[in-house]
This record gives sequence, C-alpha cells and structure tokens, in this order.
Amino acid sequence: MLDTLLPAAASLLLAGLGARLAVAGWREVEATRAARRSAEAERALLSARVAEIAERRAREREKAERTWDGFRKFVVARKVLEARDTRSFYLEPHDRRPLPSFNPGQYLTFKLNVPGQPKPVTRCYSLSDAPRADYFRVTIKRVGSPPGKPEIPPGVSSCFFHDDLEVGDIVDVRAPSGAFWLDPTDTTPVVLIGGGVGLTPVLSMLNAIVDADARRAVWFFYGVRNGAEHAMAEHLAAIAARNPNVSMNVCYSDPEPGEVPGERFQHSERVSVDLIRRVVGDMASPQFYLCGPPPMMKSVVEGLGAAGVQAERIHHEAFGPASVKGAAPPAAAAAPAPAGDVAVVFARSGKRVAWNGTSTILEMAEAAGIAMDSGCRAGNCGSCTTAVRRGEVGYPSKPGAEIASGSCLACVGLPRSEVEIDA
Ligand SMILES: Cc1cc2nc3c(=O)[nH]c(=O)nc-3n(C[C@H](O)[C@H](O)[C@H](O)COP(=O)(O)OP(=O)(O)OC[C@H]3O[C@@H](n4cnc5c(N)ncnc54)[C@H](O)[C@@H]3O)c2cc1C
Ligand code: FES
Repeated sequence: MLDTLLPAAASLLLAGLGARLAVAGWREVEATRAARRSAEAERALLSARVAEIAERRAREREKAERTWDGFRKFVVARKVLEARDTRSFYLEPHDRRPLPSFNPGQYLTFKLNVPGQPKPVTRCYSLSDAPRADYFRVTIKRVGSPPGKPEIPPGVSSCFFHDDLEVGDIVDVRAPSGAFWLDPTDTTPVVLIGGGVGLTPVLSMLNAIVDADARRAVWFFYGVRNGAEHAMAEHLAAIAARNPNVSMNVCYSDPEPGEVPGERFQHSERVSVDLIRRVVGDMASPQFYLCGPPPMMKSVVEGLGAAGVQAERIHHEAFGPASVKGAAPPAAAAAPAPAGDVAVVFARSGKRVAWNGTSTILEMAEAAGIAMDSGCRAGNCGSCTTAVRRGEVGYPSKPGAEIASGSCLACVGLPRSEVEIDA
C-alpha cells in the first residue's frame, strides 16, 4: 500500500511544484514583457517629444528666416464673398518668396493708400486661415456709418477693401504679430468662441488644429444673427463632419422664418456661458479663446469668471477699443501706480484728463472725444505714435513697435507723471 501511495504522492508533489514553477515562470515572463512594453512606450513617448521639440524648433527657425521687417508687398490673388458684407482676401507675396508660419490667432497690419485720405491708413486684420506657405488670408466685414448717422462716412479701410481693391492690386503688409494665439500642437481641450467677424482668429485656430490632426477636444461656438451673416458655412460643416473631436455650435440669435437648427446651424440662441456650460459640461479643464463684439465679449468673459474659470484660462481679443475691463488689460493692471494725482494734457485739443490708474493714453483720448490714429491697439504697428511734450510715459511690457525718441505709443502707454502730449 505504502509502496503505491509514496510514488503517487511524490508525483503529485512534483506536478504541484512543476505547476508552481510554471506559474512563477509565466509571471516572470509576463513581468519582463510588461517591463519591456512600458520601456517601449516610454521610448516612444520620448521620441515623440523629441520629434515635437525638433519640429517646433524647425518651425521657429524657418519663421525667423522667412519673416520681414517693415512692410512687404502683397498681391490680392482672390476676393471671395463669404456672407453679407463679408469678404475674404487671399494675399500672395509679390516677391514670390515663401511665407513664414505664424501662430493662429495673430493678425496682419496694413498700410493703405486710400484715395481721398490725407495720409496712409493703418489697420489690422486677423489671419483667418491656418498658416500656408504661399498665401495669407484675411476676412473683412464692411463697416457702415454709425446707426442713424448717415452723414458720417462709413469705415475707411473696410470699404476700401470691399469696393476698391481688386485682384492684382498690391498692398503693404507687416509680418504677422499679436499675443492672442494658440499652439495647435498642444492637446489641452479648447473652447473657441467667435462672434460676427470675430470668427476670424478662432477660425484660424480651428483650421490649424484640424491640420495638425491633434485629436484634441474642441468646442467651436460661432454667433451670428442669421444665415445672411453666416460666413464659411460649408467649410465649418465639413470640419464638423470629418473631425469627431470637434463639436460645432453655430448659433443664430435671430433666425429668419424657415431657418431651423440642423446641419447648417445648431442653436437658435445667442452664444452665452449658459449654452457653453450645457454643451461643454466640464468647465474645469478647457482653455477658452474668444473674439467678438463688445457686448458678447463682456458677458462671456464675466460669465466664465463667475462660473469659476480662472483668468489664466480665458484668452480674448477685441477688434476695437478694449471692451472687457475685468480681465484685460492684465499688463496695465500690473503697472506701477504713480504717486499722487496724475493727468494727461492733450495739448492741441486743450483738454486735461485725470488718469484712473488703468486706462491707456489712447483710451483716455477716446473717452474725451479726441481723435488719435490707431491700428493694432497692442503696441505693435506704431500707428498711434504721438509726440510727448512733457512728462514720462511708461509701458507695462516692452512694445513690439519701436518708440521714436520724444514720442510714445498711446495705445499701450500709461502716464508715469503728468504728461503733455501732442494731440
Ligand atoms: C487686432 C485686430 C484684428 C482685427 N481683425 C479684423 C478682422 O479679421 N476682420 C475685420 O473685419 N475687422 C478686423 N479688425 C477691425 C479692423 O481693424 C478695423 O477696425 C475695421 O475694419 C474698421 O476700420 P475702417 O477703417 O473700415 O473704419 P473706420 O474708418 O475706422 O471707422 C469706424 C467707424 O467709425 C465711424 N466714424 C468715422 N468717423 C467718425 C466720427 N467722426 N464720429 C463718429 N463715428 C465715426 C465710421 O462710420 C465707422 O462706423 C481687427 C482689429 C484689430 C485691432
Ligand atoms: S495702435 Fe498699433 S502700436 Fe498703437
């Protein structure tokens, strides 16, 4: 009996031991495989990062090589009606040299010789497409006379673009600039909001994200009154159809009879923080970029702040006088406040205006009804350069445009003492 039991027990023991060894061996193999897989994943991640950095460096090098100082001549290659009173202008370099890349959201500054104007007119227009090597595109809305004031002439530059500039004409253009831009290769979720012609910089951002194939979560909001104002409708619908990562939200605030939400537009209401919250859900992670008319900018920026979105995640640009005081201009808020009462004397207009501690000299002039030239309103184009007769003007950060000795850039300049300027 013992003779038969002992070998059986021994073989059972051996089988158990074998199984345990096999499991241990299998576990070891699996652990080695997992370690190899994780090392491979780390290597892949590292090489993707290295490739991304190399690509970014190459883009920066190429940009530095291809950019230019001052004005460069561009030919109007195409003029396309996009919506009522809104046209795109495709601009090709007259010298036919390749164009530098730019950061989507940036703008071009134009110096225009408009018939009947005593001097060249400087205006800025956002680039409305992703960077391309052979053309720049801007999309411009014709600006009419103020409502109820037909005696006031309509917008000088926008009407010149719409009515006078034809294919083959040449314009003078500064290299792309501006601080309102997005990195299309980043992967942070992003909410892009454009109102009216404020679509242009956020459309450039959207096109660049789609081109980069970043698979980043994008919520795109575009507010217009109705179909007549809806620019790039087919293009936006095609982006939505081809990119599941893009949530398209075109809003008609005042649709015409028969215009119902569907493929062309999605919401019969204004762009609001309430709508954004309903569509986006989690407001805690995305970055927000917006550009639009002053009332929309004010309500959305303030609403986002009230919804707990930190100021660092809200990026905005105004096409006219700064409309959002709460979040902008951060630089002005950081400027050292001069001691005592400070005022700006506008010598030629005979007006003395007390400084409120935040307004730029250009904003003070506008509030007092004093006409001053301006273009970018961001210290980049130099068109607001004004002679300083007395006193000191400071800048929260170094402006992009050169400041001639004895002059100031009124759009970003703040009085450091009582200042007398030639305006
Ligand atoms: C960074 C930036 C980017 C921009 N991007 C775009 C863009 O992509 N697309 C776009 O369309 N615009 C854009 N703009 C706006 C653009 O630069 C111009 O401001 C806009 O085209 C109007 O210029 P204008 O010369 O046609 O009008 P202006 O001649 O400057 O006139 C503006 C308004 O003032 C009225 N006006 C004139 N004189 C008087 C007076 N004495 N009293 C009262 N009212 C008067 C005019 O009738 C008109 O309604 C951008 C602006 C900035 C700063
Ligand atoms: S308006 Fe362009 S620098 Fe001031």
